[in-house]
Amino acid sequence: MSGILTIDRKQLVSQAVRVREGIPTIAVVKNNAYNFGLELAVEAFLEAGISAFATTSLKEAEAIRKMTDDSMVFLLNPTTEFASVRRLDLSITLPSLAYYEKYQEELAGISVHIEYAGLFNRSGFDNFGEVEQVLHHQAQMDEAERFFLEGLWCHFGYADEFDGNYEIERKNWLGFLAGFDRLDITPEFVHSQNTASFVRDGLLPGHTHTRLGIGLYGSKPYSGLNDEMFVQPFELYSSVVQIRDMDENMPMGYGGSFVAGRRTKVAIVDIGYGDGVLRKRAEYDCLINGRRYPIVSLMMSHMIVEVDETVATGDRVYIYHPEMRLDEYTFKGVGANSEQLATLNYNTLTKEITNES
Ligand SMILES: Cc1ncc(COP(=O)(O)O)c(C=O)c1O
Repeated sequence: MSGILTIDRKQLVSQAVRVREGIPTIAVVKNNAYNFGLELAVEAFLEAGISAFATTSLKEAEAIRKMTDDSMVFLLNPTTEFASVRRLDLSITLPSLAYYEKYQEELAGISVHIEYAGLFNRSGFDNFGEVEQVLHHQAQMDEAERFFLEGLWCHFGYADEFDGNYEIERKNWLGFLAGFDRLDITPEFVHSQNTASFVRDGLLPGHTHTRLGIGLYGSKPYSGLNDEMFVQPFELYSSVVQIRDMDENMPMGYGGSFVAGRRTKVAIVDIGYGDGVLRKRAEYDCLINGRRYPIVSLMMSHMIVEVDETVATGDRVYIYHPEMRLDEYTFKGVGANSEQLATLNYNTLTKEITNES
């Protein structure tokens, strides 16, 4: 047996219900739904009462549309694929004044969400004055030539940090929204909050939806949060293929990557970086029979774990487990939650969905 990723579908549904707390939510399902699998996640989130989805890719947006006729499907990245947007009834970002000036004619009848750049600044309008230019221009057009202003949005880049920048970006964004208030413009979707922002603040004033990613998938956006609110719906494990006794100073692995510091036992486990175990992750422990043991070397398809006499060939070795959460390693500096998930390699891992109905 090599690496196995199990995803508990029922847990995924209940995690989505739990984290959104009854608030209308746009589920972020980009990058194959944080690598959970787009189809699995969209269907689970529909079951959890979510009817709006966001992704960065047109290909994924098309796949989502095939799964749901009546959900709002939002393309986060600026697009110029206007024919596909119309055909698939997608909603798109309006990312800048320059984009508007270039594509204003193509936008006729398309649902747009005006984006504010804020501190994150990946794209978006810099200030409300630029939006006023767009609105003024639209007002002079025939109705059939106008876009449909369906939403307003921005993304917070600091919500999982506690250095004061989140407060600044939140204040700037709320100031930007006040401009729409003054003009009495109230679109159907006003959304800015990722998991960290929503957990910190609840739904912000003037907002209609949250826009959640990682919390739906059961990981904490920052440390110190309660395990019961973020239930990890997956496990990653493999098994011990061999136990070897090592004398003091005996080397093992490429270039002697592990040298025993004393007489000891090691387990050879058939999962490695080729399956998506990050090298940084392998600086820490794995879980065997409920106990933690240090990973002492990582190879493409194996790793070496220093064990004791209780561990035997065939035992399961967990990299991620409810008792060994992925977010624990995020907070230890292994990499973002999404980075650890995105690296999992489905070409080599076996994926098993449990609790399907
Ligand atoms: C634009 C945008 N909105 C929302 C999210 C969701 O953030 P999180 O996964 O922290 O909830 C992301 C994630 O990267 C994003 O890029």
